[in-house]
Amino acid sequence: RPASTPSPTDPPSFSRPSVQGTDRMDVIVKNGTVVTASGVSQADIGIKDGRIVQIGGTLESADRIVDASGCYVMPGGVDVHTHLDSGDFGTKSADDFGSGTIAAACGGTTTVVDFCSQDRGQSLGDAIAYWDSKAEGKVAIDYGYHMIVTDMNDGVFAELATLPDRGITSFKLFMAYRGMNMIDDVTMLKSLEQAKKYGALVMVHAENGDAADYLRDKFVAEGKTEPYYHALSRPPRIEAEATARAIALAEIVDTSIYIVHLTCGEALDELLRAKRRGVDALAETCTQYLYLTKEDLARPNFEGAKFVFTPPARSVEDQEILWKALQDRVLETVSSDHCSWLFKGHKDKGRDDFRKIPNGAPGVEERLMMVYQGVNQGRLSLPEFVDLVATRPAQVFGMFPQKGTIAVGSDADIVIWDPEATTVITQSEMHNNMDYSSYEGHAVKGMPKTVLLRGKVIVEDREYVGTPGEGQFLKRAKYVRPGKPA
Ligand code: URP
Ligand code: ZN
Ligand code: ZN
Ligand code: ZN
Repeated sequence: RPASTPSPTDPPSFSRPSVQGTDRMDVIVKNGTVVTASGVSQADIGIKDGRIVQIGGTLESADRIVDASGCYVMPGGVDVHTHLDSGDFGTKSADDFGSGTIAAACGGTTTVVDFCSQDRGQSLGDAIAYWDSKAEGKVAIDYGYHMIVTDMNDGVFAELATLPDRGITSFKLFMAYRGMNMIDDVTMLKSLEQAKKYGALVMVHAENGDAADYLRDKFVAEGKTEPYYHALSRPPRIEAEATARAIALAEIVDTSIYIVHLTCGEALDELLRAKRRGVDALAETCTQYLYLTKEDLARPNFEGAKFVFTPPARSVEDQEILWKALQDRVLETVSSDHCSWLFKGHKDKGRDDFRKIPNGAPGVEERLMMVYQGVNQGRLSLPEFVDLVATRPAQVFGMFPQKGTIAVGSDADIVIWDPEATTVITQSEMHNNMDYSSYEGHAVKGMPKTVLLRGKVIVEDREYVGTPGEGQFLKRAKYVRPGKPA
Protein backbone atom coordinates (compact mmCIF):
# COMPACT_ATOMS: atom_id res chain seq x y z
CA ARG A 1 0.00 0.00 0.00
CA PRO A 2 1.14 3.64 -0.23
CA ALA A 3 4.74 4.14 0.72
CA SER A 4 6.07 7.16 -1.05
CA THR A 5 6.37 10.89 -1.16
CA PRO A 6 3.10 12.79 -1.05
CA SER A 7 3.13 14.63 -4.33
CA PRO A 8 0.18 15.05 -6.67
CA THR A 9 2.22 14.02 -9.66
CA ASP A 10 3.56 10.79 -8.20
CA PRO A 11 2.33 7.61 -9.79
CA PRO A 12 0.46 5.29 -7.42
CA SER A 13 3.08 3.44 -5.43
CA PHE A 14 1.25 0.17 -4.94
CA SER A 15 0.51 -2.51 -7.46
CA ARG A 16 -2.70 -2.07 -9.37
CA PRO A 17 -4.98 -5.01 -9.89
CA SER A 18 -5.29 -5.92 -13.52
CA VAL A 19 -8.35 -4.58 -15.27
CA GLN A 20 -10.51 -7.23 -16.79
CA GLY A 21 -13.45 -5.63 -18.50
CA THR A 22 -15.38 -8.86 -18.64
CA ASP A 23 -15.20 -9.47 -14.89
CA ARG A 24 -18.38 -9.28 -12.95
CA MET A 25 -18.10 -6.34 -10.56
CA ASP A 26 -19.29 -6.17 -6.97
CA VAL A 27 -20.58 -2.64 -7.51
CA ILE A 28 -20.89 -0.30 -10.47
CA VAL A 29 -21.40 3.43 -9.95
CA LYS A 30 -23.25 4.48 -13.08
CA ASN A 31 -24.15 7.68 -14.93
CA GLY A 32 -22.21 10.08 -12.71
CA THR A 33 -19.68 12.83 -13.35
CA VAL A 34 -16.37 11.79 -11.83
CA VAL A 35 -14.48 14.60 -10.11
CA THR A 36 -10.88 14.24 -8.99
CA ALA A 37 -8.25 16.81 -8.11
CA SER A 38 -7.06 16.69 -11.68
CA GLY A 39 -10.30 17.01 -13.57
CA VAL A 40 -13.92 16.20 -14.34
CA SER A 41 -15.12 13.43 -16.64
CA GLN A 42 -18.16 11.38 -17.46
CA ALA A 43 -17.45 7.75 -16.51
CA ASP A 44 -18.85 4.71 -14.78
CA ILE A 45 -16.79 3.08 -12.04
CA GLY A 46 -16.31 -0.62 -11.45
CA ILE A 47 -15.55 -1.86 -7.95
CA LYS A 48 -14.31 -5.25 -6.86
CA ASP A 49 -13.07 -6.43 -3.47
CA GLY A 50 -13.30 -2.93 -2.05
CA ARG A 51 -11.13 -1.31 -4.70
CA ILE A 52 -11.74 0.64 -7.87
CA VAL A 53 -10.81 -1.66 -10.75
CA GLN A 54 -12.19 0.15 -13.77
CA ILE A 55 -13.01 3.74 -14.69
CA GLY A 56 -14.88 4.28 -17.94
CA GLY A 57 -15.41 1.78 -20.72
CA THR A 58 -18.16 -0.78 -20.70
CA LEU A 59 -19.40 -1.96 -17.32
CA GLU A 60 -22.45 -4.12 -17.31
CA SER A 61 -22.89 -6.72 -14.66
CA ALA A 62 -22.58 -6.26 -10.95
CA ASP A 63 -24.21 -7.37 -7.73
CA ARG A 64 -25.20 -3.79 -7.13
CA ILE A 65 -25.65 -0.77 -9.35
CA VAL A 66 -25.47 2.63 -7.70
CA ASP A 67 -27.10 5.26 -9.86
CA ALA A 68 -25.31 8.60 -9.80
CA SER A 69 -27.38 10.40 -12.47
CA GLY A 70 -27.16 14.15 -12.06
CA CYS A 71 -24.51 13.76 -9.35
CA TYR A 72 -20.78 14.15 -8.91
CA VAL A 73 -18.79 11.06 -8.03
CA MET A 74 -15.95 12.17 -5.80
CA PRO A 75 -13.42 10.57 -3.47
CA GLY A 76 -14.70 10.33 0.11
CA GLY A 77 -13.64 13.23 2.31
CA VAL A 78 -10.47 12.98 4.39
CA ASP A 79 -10.62 14.93 7.66
CA VAL A 80 -7.19 15.06 9.28
CA HIS A 81 -8.22 16.93 12.42
CA THR A 82 -10.82 15.44 14.77
CA HIS A 83 -11.02 15.01 18.54
CA LEU A 84 -13.32 12.03 19.08
CA ASP A 85 -13.92 10.64 22.56
CA SER A 86 -11.81 13.46 23.95
CA GLY A 87 -11.02 13.75 27.64
CA ASP A 88 -9.57 17.26 27.40
CA PHE A 89 -10.58 20.17 29.64
CA GLY A 90 -11.25 17.74 32.49
CA THR A 91 -14.40 16.38 30.87
CA LYS A 92 -15.57 13.88 28.26
CA SER A 93 -16.76 14.80 24.78
CA ALA A 94 -20.27 13.93 23.55
CA ASP A 95 -19.09 12.13 20.41
CA ASP A 96 -17.14 8.93 20.58
CA PHE A 97 -15.72 6.98 17.66
CA GLY A 98 -19.22 5.67 16.94
CA SER A 99 -21.32 8.82 16.70
CA GLY A 100 -18.40 10.92 15.46
CA THR A 101 -17.57 8.68 12.52
CA ILE A 102 -21.23 8.05 11.63
CA ALA A 103 -21.66 11.82 11.48
CA ALA A 104 -18.52 12.07 9.34
CA ALA A 105 -19.86 9.41 6.96
CA CYS A 106 -23.24 11.14 6.64
CA GLY A 107 -21.34 14.30 5.70
CA GLY A 108 -19.37 12.52 2.97
CA THR A 109 -16.14 11.86 4.90
CA THR A 110 -14.73 8.32 4.74
CA THR A 111 -11.41 8.81 6.53
CA VAL A 112 -10.52 10.65 9.72
CA VAL A 113 -7.19 11.08 11.39
CA ASP A 114 -7.93 11.60 15.06
CA PHE A 115 -5.70 12.90 17.82
CA CYS A 116 -4.52 10.18 20.16
CA SER A 117 -3.58 12.10 23.27
CA GLN A 118 -0.91 11.10 25.77
CA ASP A 119 -1.83 11.82 29.38
CA ARG A 120 0.90 13.17 31.61
CA GLY A 121 3.05 10.30 32.83
CA GLN A 122 1.55 7.89 30.32
CA SER A 123 3.63 5.98 27.78
CA LEU A 124 2.76 6.50 24.12
CA GLY A 125 2.12 2.76 23.79
CA ASP A 126 -0.50 2.96 26.54
CA ALA A 127 -2.08 6.02 24.91
CA ILE A 128 -2.39 4.11 21.63
CA ALA A 129 -3.86 1.04 23.35
CA TYR A 130 -6.40 3.31 25.04
CA TRP A 131 -7.33 4.95 21.71
CA ASP A 132 -7.64 1.52 20.08
CA SER A 133 -10.09 0.52 22.79
CA LYS A 134 -12.15 3.65 22.10
CA ALA A 135 -12.32 2.88 18.37
CA GLU A 136 -12.82 -0.86 18.49
CA GLY A 137 -16.23 -2.13 17.49
CA LYS A 138 -17.58 1.38 16.93
CA VAL A 139 -15.77 3.09 14.13
CA ALA A 140 -17.79 3.54 10.92
CA ILE A 141 -15.07 4.76 8.54
CA ASP A 142 -11.33 4.22 8.13
CA TYR A 143 -9.15 6.05 10.59
CA GLY A 144 -5.63 6.84 11.68
CA TYR A 145 -4.02 8.63 14.61
CA HIS A 146 -1.76 11.59 15.10
CA MET A 147 0.05 11.38 18.43
CA ILE A 148 -0.33 14.32 20.81
CA VAL A 149 2.80 14.45 22.93
CA THR A 150 2.31 16.31 26.20
CA ASP A 151 4.98 14.87 28.44
CA MET A 152 8.41 14.29 26.96
CA ASN A 153 10.86 12.17 28.92
CA ASP A 154 13.62 9.81 27.76
CA GLY A 155 11.22 6.88 27.47
CA VAL A 156 8.70 8.84 25.45
CA PHE A 157 11.45 10.28 23.30
CA ALA A 158 12.61 6.76 22.42
CA GLU A 159 9.03 5.65 21.82
CA LEU A 160 8.48 8.48 19.32
CA ALA A 161 11.08 6.83 17.10
CA THR A 162 8.94 3.68 16.87
CA LEU A 163 5.62 5.34 15.92
CA PRO A 164 6.21 5.80 12.17
CA ASP A 165 6.77 2.04 11.83
CA ARG A 166 3.38 1.57 13.49
CA GLY A 167 1.74 3.83 10.92
CA ILE A 168 1.53 6.87 13.16
CA THR A 169 3.49 9.30 11.05
CA SER A 170 2.55 12.64 12.60
CA PHE A 171 3.01 14.11 16.07
CA LYS A 172 1.08 17.09 17.44
CA LEU A 173 2.59 19.55 19.87
CA PHE A 174 0.86 22.43 21.65
CA MET A 175 2.50 25.82 22.19
CA ALA A 176 -0.53 26.85 24.29
CA TYR A 177 -2.52 25.52 27.27
CA ARG A 178 0.13 25.67 30.02
CA GLY A 179 -0.49 22.95 32.59
CA MET A 180 -2.45 20.82 30.15
CA ASN A 181 -0.74 20.22 26.81
CA MET A 182 1.82 22.98 26.40
CA ILE A 183 5.41 22.00 25.68
CA ASP A 184 8.55 24.14 25.70
CA ASP A 185 10.79 24.99 22.77
CA VAL A 186 13.39 22.37 23.72
CA THR A 187 10.76 19.63 23.61
CA MET A 188 9.67 20.96 20.25
CA LEU A 189 13.22 20.88 18.91
CA LYS A 190 13.78 17.34 20.16
CA SER A 191 10.49 16.16 18.67
CA LEU A 192 11.26 17.81 15.34
CA GLU A 193 14.61 16.01 15.26
CA GLN A 194 13.02 12.70 16.07
CA ALA A 195 10.31 13.25 13.46
CA LYS A 196 12.88 14.10 10.81
CA LYS A 197 14.94 11.03 11.62
CA TYR A 198 12.09 8.51 11.65
CA GLY A 199 9.72 9.86 9.00
CA ALA A 200 7.01 11.81 10.78
CA LEU A 201 5.51 15.26 10.30
CA VAL A 202 5.24 17.53 13.35
CA MET A 203 1.94 19.39 13.63
CA VAL A 204 1.80 22.43 15.84
CA HIS A 205 -0.97 24.25 17.66
CA ALA A 206 0.65 27.63 17.24
CA GLU A 207 -0.38 30.16 19.85
CA ASN A 208 1.83 31.85 22.43
CA GLY A 209 0.22 30.21 25.46
CA ASP A 210 1.76 32.47 28.08
CA ALA A 211 0.69 35.64 26.26
CA ALA A 212 -2.85 34.27 25.93
CA ASP A 213 -2.96 33.32 29.62
CA TYR A 214 -1.65 36.75 30.59
CA LEU A 215 -4.37 38.60 28.66
CA ARG A 216 -7.05 36.15 29.75
CA ASP A 217 -6.32 36.57 33.45
CA LYS A 218 -6.13 40.33 33.04
CA PHE A 219 -9.62 40.44 31.50
CA VAL A 220 -11.07 38.29 34.26
CA ALA A 221 -9.41 40.48 36.93
CA GLU A 222 -11.21 43.44 35.32
CA GLY A 223 -14.52 41.59 35.55
CA LYS A 224 -14.62 40.84 31.81
CA THR A 225 -15.77 37.24 32.03
CA GLU A 226 -18.07 36.82 28.99
CA PRO A 227 -17.21 34.45 26.09
CA TYR A 228 -16.30 37.41 23.84
CA TYR A 229 -13.15 37.99 25.91
CA HIS A 230 -11.91 34.56 24.86
CA ALA A 231 -11.45 36.03 21.38
CA LEU A 232 -9.94 39.29 22.65
CA SER A 233 -7.45 37.42 24.83
CA ARG A 234 -6.03 35.53 21.83
CA PRO A 235 -5.43 38.22 19.17
CA PRO A 236 -3.90 37.33 15.78
CA ARG A 237 -0.38 38.33 16.86
CA ILE A 238 -0.44 35.58 19.52
CA GLU A 239 -0.97 33.08 16.72
CA ALA A 240 1.42 34.77 14.30
CA GLU A 241 4.27 34.87 16.85
CA ALA A 242 3.94 31.16 17.62
CA THR A 243 3.57 30.31 13.93
CA ALA A 244 6.82 32.13 13.16
CA ARG A 245 8.55 30.51 16.15
CA ALA A 246 7.39 27.00 15.29
CA ILE A 247 8.60 27.43 11.74
CA ALA A 248 11.91 28.83 12.96
CA LEU A 249 12.43 25.82 15.23
CA ALA A 250 11.74 23.48 12.30
CA GLU A 251 14.21 25.46 10.23
CA ILE A 252 16.85 25.19 12.94
CA VAL A 253 16.72 21.38 12.71
CA ASP A 254 16.19 21.57 8.94
CA THR A 255 12.89 19.78 8.74
CA SER A 256 9.23 20.15 7.77
CA ILE A 257 6.34 21.47 9.86
CA TYR A 258 2.54 21.58 9.64
CA ILE A 259 0.57 24.35 11.34
CA VAL A 260 -2.89 23.22 12.42
CA HIS A 261 -5.92 25.53 12.37
CA LEU A 262 -4.35 28.64 10.85
CA THR A 263 -6.92 31.42 11.15
CA CYS A 264 -5.72 34.82 10.02
CA GLY A 265 -3.74 37.00 7.66
CA GLU A 266 -1.03 37.70 10.24
CA ALA A 267 -0.22 34.00 10.69
CA LEU A 268 -0.53 33.37 6.96
CA ASP A 269 2.08 36.08 6.33
CA GLU A 270 4.52 34.12 8.52
CA LEU A 271 3.76 30.94 6.60
CA LEU A 272 4.30 32.65 3.25
CA ARG A 273 7.55 34.24 4.43
CA ALA A 274 8.78 30.76 5.39
CA LYS A 275 7.72 29.26 2.08
CA ARG A 276 9.66 31.99 0.29
CA ARG A 277 12.76 30.97 2.28
CA GLY A 278 12.25 27.43 1.02
CA VAL A 279 11.01 25.93 4.29
CA ASP A 280 8.65 22.97 3.90
CA ALA A 281 6.06 24.75 6.05
CA LEU A 282 2.50 23.48 5.55
CA ALA A 283 -0.77 24.58 7.10
CA GLU A 284 -4.48 23.86 7.23
CA THR A 285 -7.40 26.03 8.10
CA CYS A 286 -10.73 24.80 9.48
CA THR A 287 -14.32 25.33 8.35
CA GLN A 288 -15.21 27.56 11.28
CA TYR A 289 -12.62 30.18 10.29
CA LEU A 290 -14.29 30.53 6.89
CA TYR A 291 -17.75 31.18 8.30
CA LEU A 292 -17.63 32.49 11.88
CA THR A 293 -16.21 35.71 13.26
CA LYS A 294 -15.33 36.89 16.72
CA GLU A 295 -18.66 38.73 16.81
CA ASP A 296 -20.31 35.30 17.10
CA LEU A 297 -18.76 35.04 20.57
CA ALA A 298 -20.78 38.10 21.55
CA ARG A 299 -24.14 36.42 20.87
CA PRO A 300 -26.54 37.01 23.78
CA ASN A 301 -27.62 34.59 26.50
CA PHE A 302 -24.19 32.97 26.68
CA GLU A 303 -24.75 31.55 23.20
CA GLY A 304 -21.34 32.92 22.24
CA ALA A 305 -19.85 30.02 24.24
CA LYS A 306 -20.75 27.70 21.36
CA PHE A 307 -18.10 29.47 19.32
CA VAL A 308 -15.31 29.33 21.89
CA PHE A 309 -12.49 27.45 20.21
CA THR A 310 -8.81 28.17 19.78
CA PRO A 311 -7.40 30.02 18.00
CA PRO A 312 -10.59 32.10 18.04
CA ALA A 313 -12.78 33.08 15.11
CA ARG A 314 -11.44 36.25 13.49
CA SER A 315 -12.84 38.89 11.11
CA VAL A 316 -14.57 38.96 7.74
CA GLU A 317 -11.30 40.28 6.27
CA ASP A 318 -9.45 37.23 7.59
CA GLN A 319 -12.11 34.96 6.08
CA GLU A 320 -11.47 36.53 2.68
CA ILE A 321 -7.72 36.05 3.12
CA LEU A 322 -8.25 32.37 3.95
CA TRP A 323 -10.50 31.73 0.94
CA LYS A 324 -7.89 33.39 -1.25
CA ALA A 325 -5.16 31.22 0.31
CA LEU A 326 -7.25 28.12 -0.44
CA GLN A 327 -7.64 29.27 -4.03
CA ASP A 328 -3.92 29.89 -4.28
CA ARG A 329 -3.32 26.43 -2.74
CA VAL A 330 -0.97 27.75 -0.08
CA LEU A 331 -3.10 26.03 2.56
CA GLU A 332 -3.23 22.25 2.22
CA THR A 333 -6.70 21.44 3.47
CA VAL A 334 -9.77 22.50 5.42
CA SER A 335 -10.23 20.28 8.49
CA SER A 336 -13.11 20.24 10.94
CA ASP A 337 -11.28 20.24 14.32
CA HIS A 338 -14.48 18.48 15.45
CA CYS A 339 -14.82 18.83 19.23
CA SER A 340 -18.12 17.85 20.79
CA TRP A 341 -18.60 19.95 23.90
CA LEU A 342 -22.31 20.26 24.60
CA PHE A 343 -23.82 23.70 25.11
CA LYS A 344 -25.70 22.30 28.09
CA GLY A 345 -23.36 20.27 30.25
CA HIS A 346 -19.95 21.32 28.95
CA LYS A 347 -19.88 24.91 27.71
CA ASP A 348 -22.00 26.15 30.63
CA LYS A 349 -19.23 25.33 33.07
CA GLY A 350 -17.89 28.72 32.02
CA ARG A 351 -21.00 30.84 32.48
CA ASP A 352 -19.27 33.07 35.02
CA ASP A 353 -15.76 32.78 33.67
CA PHE A 354 -14.90 32.21 30.00
CA ARG A 355 -11.65 30.49 31.04
CA LYS A 356 -13.71 27.47 32.10
CA ILE A 357 -15.49 27.01 28.76
CA PRO A 358 -14.11 23.87 27.06
CA ASN A 359 -12.51 24.96 23.78
CA GLY A 360 -13.73 23.53 20.51
CA ALA A 361 -16.78 23.18 18.27
CA PRO A 362 -18.37 20.45 16.15
CA GLY A 363 -18.25 20.24 12.35
CA VAL A 364 -17.16 16.83 11.07
CA GLU A 365 -20.49 16.33 9.25
CA GLU A 366 -20.94 19.90 8.02
CA ARG A 367 -17.38 20.30 6.64
CA LEU A 368 -17.90 19.20 3.03
CA MET A 369 -21.24 20.96 2.65
CA MET A 370 -19.81 24.21 4.02
CA VAL A 371 -16.60 24.18 1.98
CA TYR A 372 -18.64 23.27 -1.12
CA GLN A 373 -20.40 26.63 -0.88
CA GLY A 374 -17.06 27.99 -2.10
CA VAL A 375 -17.73 26.15 -5.37
CA ASN A 376 -21.21 27.67 -5.63
CA GLN A 377 -19.74 31.11 -5.01
CA GLY A 378 -17.10 30.67 -7.70
CA ARG A 379 -14.25 30.72 -5.16
CA LEU A 380 -13.14 27.13 -5.85
CA SER A 381 -13.34 24.88 -8.88
CA LEU A 382 -14.70 21.36 -8.42
CA PRO A 383 -11.22 19.77 -8.66
CA GLU A 384 -9.90 22.31 -6.15
CA PHE A 385 -12.71 21.39 -3.78
CA VAL A 386 -11.87 17.69 -4.06
CA ASP A 387 -8.18 18.42 -3.64
CA LEU A 388 -8.80 20.44 -0.48
CA VAL A 389 -11.18 18.08 1.30
CA ALA A 390 -9.78 14.72 0.17
CA THR A 391 -6.72 14.47 -2.06
CA ARG A 392 -4.22 16.84 -0.54
CA PRO A 393 -4.80 15.79 3.10
CA ALA A 394 -4.39 12.15 2.02
CA GLN A 395 -1.10 13.05 0.33
CA VAL A 396 0.31 15.08 3.18
CA PHE A 397 -0.55 12.43 5.76
CA GLY A 398 0.66 9.33 3.93
CA MET A 399 -2.64 7.83 2.74
CA PHE A 400 -2.49 8.60 -0.98
CA PRO A 401 -3.37 6.99 -3.39
CA GLN A 402 -5.12 4.40 -1.23
CA LYS A 403 -7.31 7.28 -0.02
CA GLY A 404 -8.20 10.68 -1.42
CA THR A 405 -8.70 9.93 -5.08
CA ILE A 406 -10.65 7.99 -7.66
CA ALA A 407 -8.10 5.87 -9.47
CA VAL A 408 -7.75 2.24 -10.44
CA GLY A 409 -6.28 0.51 -7.40
CA SER A 410 -7.53 3.03 -4.86
CA ASP A 411 -9.97 2.08 -2.12
CA ALA A 412 -13.52 2.54 -3.38
CA ASP A 413 -14.29 5.32 -0.88
CA ILE A 414 -16.76 7.34 -2.89
CA VAL A 415 -19.25 10.08 -2.23
CA ILE A 416 -22.13 10.58 -4.64
CA TRP A 417 -22.71 14.31 -4.38
CA ASP A 418 -25.99 15.92 -5.39
CA PRO A 419 -25.12 19.47 -6.47
CA GLU A 420 -28.78 20.52 -6.64
CA ALA A 421 -29.91 19.32 -3.20
CA THR A 422 -30.49 22.10 -0.72
CA THR A 423 -31.00 22.30 3.01
CA VAL A 424 -30.69 24.66 5.90
CA ILE A 425 -28.17 23.29 8.38
CA THR A 426 -29.87 22.37 11.60
CA GLN A 427 -28.66 20.26 14.48
CA SER A 428 -31.68 17.93 14.46
CA GLU A 429 -30.58 16.67 11.03
CA MET A 430 -27.00 16.00 12.09
CA HIS A 431 -25.96 12.51 13.15
CA ASN A 432 -23.66 13.35 16.03
CA ASN A 433 -24.44 13.53 19.75
CA MET A 434 -24.29 17.31 19.90
CA ASP A 435 -26.91 19.79 21.02
CA TYR A 436 -25.89 22.50 18.57
CA SER A 437 -24.37 22.99 15.12
CA SER A 438 -21.78 25.70 14.58
CA TYR A 439 -23.57 26.48 11.29
CA GLU A 440 -27.22 26.39 12.44
CA GLY A 441 -29.45 28.26 9.99
CA HIS A 442 -26.90 28.31 7.18
CA ALA A 443 -28.50 27.56 3.79
CA VAL A 444 -26.45 25.15 1.67
CA LYS A 445 -26.75 23.81 -1.85
CA GLY A 446 -24.89 20.60 -2.67
CA MET A 447 -25.01 17.61 -0.34
CA PRO A 448 -23.77 14.04 -0.11
CA LYS A 449 -26.40 11.50 -1.10
CA THR A 450 -24.74 8.09 -1.08
CA VAL A 451 -21.41 7.18 0.48
CA LEU A 452 -19.34 4.06 -0.13
CA LEU A 453 -16.57 2.81 2.12
CA ARG A 454 -14.29 0.34 0.35
CA GLY A 455 -17.10 -0.43 -2.07
CA LYS A 456 -19.82 -0.88 0.50
CA VAL A 457 -22.72 1.56 0.69
CA ILE A 458 -22.65 2.99 4.22
CA VAL A 459 -24.85 6.06 3.66
CA GLU A 460 -28.02 6.17 1.58
CA ASP A 461 -30.08 9.34 1.23
CA ARG A 462 -28.04 10.90 4.01
CA GLU A 463 -28.78 8.12 6.49
CA TYR A 464 -26.19 5.72 7.87
CA VAL A 465 -26.76 2.13 6.74
CA GLY A 466 -23.36 0.65 7.60
CA THR A 467 -22.19 -1.59 10.40
CA PRO A 468 -20.35 0.12 13.25
CA GLY A 469 -16.91 -1.40 13.70
CA GLU A 470 -16.20 -1.90 10.01
CA GLY A 471 -13.81 1.06 9.84
CA GLN A 472 -10.18 -0.04 9.57
CA PHE A 473 -7.06 1.42 11.13
CA LEU A 474 -4.80 3.00 8.52
CA LYS A 475 -1.09 2.47 8.81
CA ARG A 476 0.01 5.67 7.16
CA ALA A 477 3.16 6.02 5.10
CA LYS A 478 6.12 7.98 6.43
CA TYR A 479 6.43 11.65 5.64
CA VAL A 480 9.04 12.40 3.04
CA ARG A 481 9.98 16.00 2.51
CA PRO A 482 9.56 17.02 -1.13
CA GLY A 483 12.89 17.12 -2.88
CA LYS A 484 14.57 15.18 -0.09
CA PRO A 485 14.05 11.49 -0.78
CA ALA A 486 14.62 9.20 2.20
O1 URP B 1 -10.44 24.82 20.46
C1 URP B 1 -9.95 23.83 20.00
N1 URP B 1 -9.43 23.83 18.79
N2 URP B 1 -9.93 22.72 20.73
C2 URP B 1 -9.40 21.49 20.36
C3 URP B 1 -8.00 21.33 20.67
C4 URP B 1 -7.14 22.00 19.66
O2 URP B 1 -6.50 22.96 20.02
O3 URP B 1 -7.10 21.56 18.51
ZN1 ZN C 1 -5.11 22.92 18.45
ZN1 ZN D 1 -7.92 20.43 17.37
ZN1 ZN E 1 -30.69 11.46 9.68
